[in-house]
Parts: sequence; structure tokens; C-alpha cells
Amino acid sequence: MAFLELRNLSVDYLMGAQRVHAVDGVSFPVEKGDSVGIVGESGSGKSTLGLALLRLLGEPTAEVRGEALLEGMDLLTLAEKDLQELRWRRMAAVFQKSMNALSPVHKIGKQMADVYRVHHPEASREQAKQRALETLRQVNLAERVYTSYPHELSGGMMQRVSIALSLLNHPDLIIFDEATTALDVVTQGQILKEIQYLERELGLTRLMITHDISVVAASCSHVAVMYAGRLMEYGPTAKVLRSPRHPYTQGLLRAYPSLRGEKTGMQGIPGALPDLKEEIPGCVFAPRCPWATEDCRQRRPEEVTIEAGWRASCPRAVEGREPDA
Ligand SMILES: Nc1ncnc2c1ncn2[C@@H]1O[C@H](COP(=O)(O)OP(=O)(O)OP(=O)(O)O)[C@@H](O)[C@H]1O
Ligand SMILES: [Mg+2]
Repeated sequence: MAFLELRNLSVDYLMGAQRVHAVDGVSFPVEKGDSVGIVGESGSGKSTLGLALLRLLGEPTAEVRGEALLEGMDLLTLAEKDLQELRWRRMAAVFQKSMNALSPVHKIGKQMADVYRVHHPEASREQAKQRALETLRQVNLAERVYTSYPHELSGGMMQRVSIALSLLNHPDLIIFDEATTALDVVTQGQILKEIQYLERELGLTRLMITHDISVVAASCSHVAVMYAGRLMEYGPTAKVLRSPRHPYTQGLLRAYPSLRGEKTGMQGIPGALPDLKEEIPGCVFAPRCPWATEDCRQRRPEEVTIEAGWRASCPRAVEGREPDA
């Protein structure tokens, strides 16, 4: 069994009598040390998936089904007490606005040391301080950040502080949700390099939720492509980006003519996401797909394996044919 295994993970948001099928039957394995980029256009269910793993969705507004096994333990059904322990000791999350979690009126180092001591009551003040300084060093921040207030730091430095905070309790799984999106490309590039270095040093596993494929290309071993809550393609980043097999992945990549060049958004694929409140019997991408047949509209496509560890939910994906259109 993989380090983390998602099996048929589904999330419905309950809105009165209606259900928004935000995540629908997503399965993929994550080996220890993997970094998995979760990509897809806005509204495809990326954040919902991350929040479901962190159990931050809050029932009764959301109904979560399936399994998310972390070394065999199902995160979705774990008792609250075990979940608390796990959430702090093994899993951590960094969001785009993680810096808002810090109080503006206290120095950063004190806040970090306090967080550490909440979860390590046995630690002395000095030990907590040393741990905070150590994590600041790990994300390439100078010691003076320890005695700085949040408003004294730039956005890039604050995002590094957020990452340092997430490392405090030695997690082995980190979930980033657009954590580097707001940064300029140079700072983002530096931070991605640092994260990868840390991962190798500390044996971290990372889920990287982003709509920016260049972030995945630069920092992820694997990529999961989502569309309308479903998994379209999953495989090693180098292979998927070089020869995408699912027509949605192909369209998404065409919207990035060159990963080093200008980004042009998602104009590569005409049309818009379907209404997630509807029950869609066939392939969710069929209305926008240049290959779609009547069968695609009627029946949910089976997943096909392109090679070990690389699969796509489209029967045409094995052939890897370029769309005619
Ligand atoms: N609390 C909520 N209640 C109802 N519907 C929601 C809720 N949160 C998200 N949704 C819907 O669920 C779907 C998936 O949203 P989600 O935020 O997971 O997408 P995303 O891929 O993270 O998008 P983005 O790239 O914009 O962050 C969307 O249709 C969204 O409108
Ligand atoms: Mg999101």
C-alpha cells in the first residue's frame, strides 16, 4: 500500500435540497517522498480535495465518501482525538493566506515557539525557541525574523514563515493550496527549490494544489489533473507534460504554449465547467471534448492505464492520439 492512498474520494456540498458534486470518485496513490501537483481550472475541486484530507470541510455542510488512507489509517473516519494528534504531528497545510493566521501584535518567533509548546508541552522555552529558529533557517530566513512583527516582512518572507510554521512539528505530509501563487516568479522559484531540498532532507511528501502548471513542472514528481471534480489523468510529471494523453490535459497544456513563455490562461479549451449540481452520467468533459462520442455522453468512461503509474479516464488515451480539432 502506498504512503497515502485516495480511494474513490468524493465530496458533495449540501445546499438545501441540492448537492454540489465538488469531488467525484478520485483515486490515486502517493508514495512517500512524492510531490503531487493537483491541477485544473478554477472550481475543479482541488481545494475541496485538500480540505477533505485535512478534515476541515465541516459537516453537515459537506458529505465526504471514499477512503484516504495514510499508512493504512483512514483520515476520513479517524476519531477526533487521533485526528488532532495526526493533524499536528504528521500533516500540515500552507494556504495562500496562511500568514493571516499570525497575530499582528506579537513577534513571529514568540508565536512559533508558543505553537510548538502547545503540541510539545514537555519542551522548555529555550527548546521551543531553538526549534523555531531551526525551522526559520530551513526556509532560508535570517535569525532576525524571530524578533520581527508580521508587518515588517515582505510577502515572500511571510510565505516562508508560513512554511516554517508548517514544519515546526515535523510533519511527513504537507498540503500546499496555492501557497506560492501570490509571489513574484523569482521568489516563487526560490521557495520551490528550497521546498524540494527540504523534502529530500526530511523525507517529506507534498500535495501541491495549484492552477499553475509551471509550478508543477518545476517542483512535482507527479501530477493529478482534475476537471469538474473528477480525475482526468494521473502520472509522472515529466511524462504527462511531455505527452499528455487525456484531451483535457492536452487542452490545458495548450493554454500554456511554453512553460517558460507567457501564460495565456485557459483559452485553450472553449466552453466552461459543467454545473456541478447536475448528475452527469457520462464523461464530465464530453461537452468540450473534440473526441466525444455518444457513448462518452452516456457512460462514465473507464480509466485506462497508459503504463504503470500513469492513467487517464478516457478510452482514447491509450492511443495518445491528438484531437482532430
Ligand atoms: N462551501 C461550499 N459550499 C458550496 N459549494 C462550494 C463550497 N466550496 C466550494 N464549492 C464549490 O465546489 C466546487 C469546487 O470548488 P473548489 O474550491 O474545491 O475548487 P478549486 O479547484 O479549488 O478552485 P480554485 O482554483 O478557484 O481555487 C466549485 O463549484 C465551488 O463553487
Ligand atoms: Mg482552490
